[in-house]
Amino acid sequence: MALRPSLLFGAACAVALIAPAAYADELDPAGKWTAYERGAADLPPMGWNSWNAFGVAIDEEKVLGSANIIVSSGLAAKGYRYINLDEGWWARRNSTTGRMVIRTDRFPSARQRNGSTSFRPLTDRLHAMGLKAGIYSEIGRNSCGQLYSEDKSSLPTGTVAEREVGLHDHVDQDIRLYFEEWGFDYIKVDGCGIRGLPASNPRVISGEFREFPPLIDSDSLGRTNIPAVRALFTDVSQALERHNSDDDFIFSICIWGAADVRSWAKNVGNMSRTSEDIFPIWGRMLFNLDSASRRALYAHPGSWNDPDMLYIGTGDFDADHLTEARTHFSMWAMLNAPLIIGYDLRRATPKLLEILGNTKVIALNQDPAGNQAVLAYDTDDTQFYVKTLSDGTKAVALLNRTSAPLQVTLTADQLKYLDDGDVTLENLWTGDTITFRKEHEFALAPRETLVFKARGTRTLAAGYYISEMPGSVNPAVDGITVPEAEPLTYRGILPWQGTRGNGEHPRYGGWGGAQADMTPYGDQLAVAGHRFFSGIGVLANSRLEVRNNGFKRFSATVGVDDTARDRSQPVTFFVYGDGRLLAESGPKRFGEAPSPIEADVSGVKLVELVARTAEPMRFPDPVTWGEAALTR
Ligand code: GLA
Repeated sequence: MALRPSLLFGAACAVALIAPAAYADELDPAGKWTAYERGAADLPPMGWNSWNAFGVAIDEEKVLGSANIIVSSGLAAKGYRYINLDEGWWARRNSTTGRMVIRTDRFPSARQRNGSTSFRPLTDRLHAMGLKAGIYSEIGRNSCGQLYSEDKSSLPTGTVAEREVGLHDHVDQDIRLYFEEWGFDYIKVDGCGIRGLPASNPRVISGEFREFPPLIDSDSLGRTNIPAVRALFTDVSQALERHNSDDDFIFSICIWGAADVRSWAKNVGNMSRTSEDIFPIWGRMLFNLDSASRRALYAHPGSWNDPDMLYIGTGDFDADHLTEARTHFSMWAMLNAPLIIGYDLRRATPKLLEILGNTKVIALNQDPAGNQAVLAYDTDDTQFYVKTLSDGTKAVALLNRTSAPLQVTLTADQLKYLDDGDVTLENLWTGDTITFRKEHEFALAPRETLVFKARGTRTLAAGYYISEMPGSVNPAVDGITVPEAEPLTYRGILPWQGTRGNGEHPRYGGWGGAQADMTPYGDQLAVAGHRFFSGIGVLANSRLEVRNNGFKRFSATVGVDDTARDRSQPVTFFVYGDGRLLAESGPKRFGEAPSPIEADVSGVKLVELVARTAEPMRFPDPVTWGEAALTR
């Protein structure tokens, strides 16, 4: 697929350099789904990782301790399969051969008779337990722990070269070693080495580490070299494909929402962190949640948003805070986040294991349709999330973000159900069932989330709104020409910084991306005063790929959204089926009434929705595919 102009040329000069040819190419129908499909991530990965429990101080006993409980408690049978080492396993890189050396003081089974080291005994053991094994690495030369950890006893030792344990300049060698020779099934690749080692770093000046001119500036998208970062991660995914002939791998990208990764990870890896690290603090959980919650259209089978690992068991989510623990788990399940436990399970109480093992909540996360929940009601106080499941039923979560009790009213139309039909809700934590018509009031305890399986009479009886099926949509080109940071994440006090500095600023690119049931900037969808409660909001000069699972008709009501600011160019809407033009709207101007557009898509596998202007625009206007739907 052609790279977006903004990725090719960087933020500052995107406009002048949008070459008409490239602009035309990327809006041309691809005729096929272009998001990442390699690897083993049809469903969000589930498992355990050492970081939240142990930091860099890991060893074989700790890892196997939790692995044993995953099996004995029944969590493995419920889907938790990956046992992932995070940072702390490496001793050094052999400076002659380049081969990575494992810390045998912490991982005794890695000691080989010939004096070298191998994780094969550990991965064999995990595989024999019916589990999968994950390893941790770094895209630069030096790791996050080397830059930031205070526990020096757990870090690599030796010369500067021996301490360069990251993948940089060793991608093929390391990936081959980790997957073919050592038998891992999963890799998390971090990125501190490409952001933290400028020539001015005192530890570079002192000769402790080699300089790496930063590619990422976490505070500034404009100063980040997005195409270079993307290229480094693309190299890793290609190496993973080369060294995993069976495709049984997971590629977890960990650059914490930086480098506009929330927009491009879906083309490169299987899951990608949407924010900086989670902490076992309520506000921080909200922050991580928010970093993924408006990215539903950017997640689908094969590639998932990752708001970071679970902190259930610790701090605000510990055994004395089960309400918060249930909320954290419910929300990660609704967002199709990877469910990676971050707790020393040897200490888990039965109640905590019960939360992690709630099969009904897990089933929402593991639903094969892969639809991340969509926001149906959104305020700072409370949010309602609705997730369409593969059997056509829904799940709804009512989240109380505040520390006070709240009364909330859920309406049938928020579920896209008819007012005059019965709506039945099954509470997935208590098993209680209620039936109502039109609306129902709920009491939410402080920080509580109620999660229900919902049944009702669909407003659209004959099929699905496209906004109900984000797992089948790929915003191949979302119209963003200059990456901007999203302002809608919860702003809490940073745990490691306190109130020093001047506060938390927007930092995660992707603002203005395609949205379900709202405009790219979070507004109500509306064209010439006509409001739409279902639809896709996206910028002009965009192309959306939509998988069609046997439906016969595509329909929508389209126009330039009322929130448009430039308004200088009319926008034409096109519908393609497997690469062939099926329907076209004619040019639509700002303020013009919305027009219907429809197409026969019988037998079509991929529908593409293109909205384009005659000439490229610096800041394309928002357009609305109102009530866009696939029907029988
Ligand atoms: C980064 C990652 C964490 C963890 C640490 C290890 O901070 O975001 O998840 O892997 O590095 O040092």
